[in-house]
Amino acid sequence: MNHVLFTPLTNLTVLLLISLSLFACTANSPLPEPTITPEPDDGRITYEEMVVGYSQIGAESNWRTGNTASIKETAVALGVELIFADGQQRQENQIRAIRSFIAQQVDVIGVSPVVEDGWESVFQEAKDAGIPIILVDRRANVSPDLYTTHLGSDFVEEGRNAARVMVDLLGGQGNVVELTGTVGSAPAIDRYAGFREIIQDHPEIIILASASGDFTRARGEEVMGDLLQLYGEKIDAVYAHNDDMAIGAIKAIEAYGLRPGQDIKIVSIDAIRDAFQAMIDGKLNATIECNPLLGPQFFDLALKVVNSEPIPKWIPSEEGIFFPENAAELLPARRY
Ligand code: AHR
Repeated sequence: MNHVLFTPLTNLTVLLLISLSLFACTANSPLPEPTITPEPDDGRITYEEMVVGYSQIGAESNWRTGNTASIKETAVALGVELIFADGQQRQENQIRAIRSFIAQQVDVIGVSPVVEDGWESVFQEAKDAGIPIILVDRRANVSPDLYTTHLGSDFVEEGRNAARVMVDLLGGQGNVVELTGTVGSAPAIDRYAGFREIIQDHPEIIILASASGDFTRARGEEVMGDLLQLYGEKIDAVYAHNDDMAIGAIKAIEAYGLRPGQDIKIVSIDAIRDAFQAMIDGKLNATIECNPLLGPQFFDLALKVVNSEPIPKWIPSEEGIFFPENAAELLPARRY
């Protein structure tokens, strides 16, 4: 959304109009209608004037690369000057990036914190420098006065939805292994909690084990391989905190000689294109959407923040649940 407003006539325009009407009186000839070009100088900051520093987590999953593309493409489309830093999944890199944004006196800082804890000091430094922070995707465990707003998903609800689907798939009974995301990250904490909130009412569903695959395919495959060595055919289902780990787990299950999606049911989160393909192939049973296309909303919020407009403290994304039945029909329209 562009916020260009128009100013009242400037002194120069008024003078021009007066001299034109005087000329009309004396020359007694028809004049073309004067065109007044509005001047966008209303004191408000525009997209083109805004400098934004963005500290991204890394490129650990297809979700993340879709999220990065959305941020970068939107900045180009709006003409925002974006200083982008990839933290390579390390908090110290993200903290260093935020300090460099402060030194460069950017107008706004966007950050997707890799883990929840440990942000107080650097956010305080940004606040002291008068630079607002917008949390994108993941939360940080800081006092609310240290950030302006949080744009991102309801990760607890995603975990609950995964559990509801799992209960249906298992008919209320079976052994589940869980592949969790990055230890200490908001989505891993919330998806773990939301899943248990629902499963606790189904005592015949047992969570055999829970281990971190760090949101990557490679770790998902490795950890699932270990769990198969430990529990083998006792495993009825996998709950993966993201699709990339589920896709890694599919490989491990096949290598073990079982059929993913049939011998072992799989539910995961994100709804990336590869998850739709896995559902079409009959290897994944459901994916819960987590929307990474946050660029347009992020820059809209950033503009509002720099222009001191009020905004809510949390802007949750709207998300769906997808099953194999309509995966082929929906895949072509998926953008990440
Ligand atoms: O914070 C969102 C999560 O981070 C996504 O579910 C996962 O794929 C990503 O790496």
